[in-house]
Amino acid sequence: MKILVLGDVSRSASCKYVCDRLWRYRKDHGIDFVVVNGENCAETNGIDKNSANMLFSAGADVITTGNHAFKRYEAKGLFEEEKMLLRPANYPGTVPGEGAVLTDAAGMTVLVINLLGVIMMDPLENPFFTVERILSRYQGKYDISILDFHAEATSEKQALAFYLDGFKYTEIDIAAENMDVFHQPSYVIISMAVGLLDIDPPDENTPWPALYEIDYFRLYQKPNVGSLTIR
Ligand SMILES: [Fe+2]
Repeated sequence: MKILVLGDVSRSASCKYVCDRLWRYRKDHGIDFVVVNGENCAETNGIDKNSANMLFSAGADVITTGNHAFKRYEAKGLFEEEKMLLRPANYPGTVPGEGAVLTDAAGMTVLVINLLGVIMMDPLENPFFTVERILSRYQGKYDISILDFHAEATSEKQALAFYLDGFKYTEIDIAAENMDVFHQPSYVIISMAVGLLDIDPPDENTPWPALYEIDYFRLYQKPNVGSLTIR
């Protein structure tokens, strides 16, 4: 099964850019299922009916969101109406919409979950416990699960990946040489976006898809906590 996940499509120019290309890309690459984070796909940010419809029509099966899900007042009704549009699952239960959905693609049942981080973000329900609750609620009912964890801190994203792999992040032995190995088939993609606010939106000359290369990363370690092996 081929799955395409697109991160935060920011602003209407990026939304148009993606929508002009998505269906053709999906068809050419035989993609079975598409998840797009559309929390900022409206004019400046947030999501509205028009931009959500554009993404659905262009080939998005599920739209996920994040901390800007309710930036626009009209989004309230949209989340109530549209089952394939998710808001973060760790918002309070009184917030309109759902944080997870079961759907079918290519003969499989797919569970899509949307979650918001809490480090350097709003104080919501613990995302670790929230996702655990959702996974146990749907246990045995899905073949593949896709989680869009909309968070600021890379460490929180990575901790959740370890947690969902059967580890408790507080118990990882940082001296173990295989601490970066996931024991279940998991694919972790850290940080994706299309047309962020501090760069120019994509235009006709922007390559699709574009490659994003990381020059370096820095690892911080607390003193006196043992040695760390990096491979
Ligand atoms: Fe966001």
